Amino acid sequence: MLPHLQEATTYIQQQIEQFQPDFGIVLGTGLGALVQDIAVQYALDYQDIPHFPVSTVESHSGKLIFGQLGGRNVVVMQGRFHYYEGYTMEQVVFPIRVMKMLGIQKLLVSNAAGGLNPQFNTSDLMVITDHINLQPTNPLIGKNLSTLGPRFPDMSEPYDPDMISQALDISERHNLNVQTGVYVSVPGPMLETKAEYKYLGLIGADAVGMSTVPEVIAAVHMNLPVFAVSVITDMCVPGKIKKVILQDILDAAAQAEPNMTLLIKELIQRQP
Ligand code: HPA
Repeated sequence: MLPHLQEATTYIQQQIEQFQPDFGIVLGTGLGALVQDIAVQYALDYQDIPHFPVSTVESHSGKLIFGQLGGRNVVVMQGRFHYYEGYTMEQVVFPIRVMKMLGIQKLLVSNAAGGLNPQFNTSDLMVITDHINLQPTNPLIGKNLSTLGPRFPDMSEPYDPDMISQALDISERHNLNVQTGVYVSVPGPMLETKAEYKYLGLIGADAVGMSTVPEVIAAVHMNLPVFAVSVITDMCVPGKIKKVILQDILDAAAQAEPNMTLLIKELIQRQP
């Protein structure tokens, strides 16, 4: 695994010359338009990067984009890898590890999620303050790569408290009406039954989705501070549950996109 990470990193470094990304950003379902705000310097197709997985979902196009967002140097994953696509967890987090090896200081992750908290509405943003992993495995199973991080990484504070409070401050200033809450990750790809939604709410989750937690675990393992935010694309509380159609999820995500872009951009600008 480590030689593969090094090969991918070296290849990327050759392509991007002297460019040094300070922030890594993972764009979730329907949130790819943030890329339009980036002064792009380099765009690499995943398929050209050695050992990089290639995205199989049409709603996720696969590119690693380097440039400036809000005046800061970023690397953006346009398209991410999901466990339900059949990748191993190591493949799912491979790009996160590569971005760390490229020298990013912080990681920002977005996703689309179902709302379990009855106070939420479709197209709300939810800053993730904690998570529950209900996916059947995680990227740290197996021999520990001690050059990346410890065997038993602490998980008592996976989401960077400074970035959370800065995000809430930005939200207040711009009236973005951002929620906070616990994200639960499920394997997917099927959505949940009504009984499952009820269960997920009961165990303490505010939003449910099929991504993010593996990436966050890999980042925490590497001591990389993480910020994560969900767009609530459908409501999953009794009385509000509708048949989920991918287009509705994409539409709800698109509606939240301006707020998401503003939040991520200002958050990056505020980092020391
Ligand atoms: N469940 C799981 N994943 C999701 C959902 C959902 O309701 N909405 C968007 N991603």
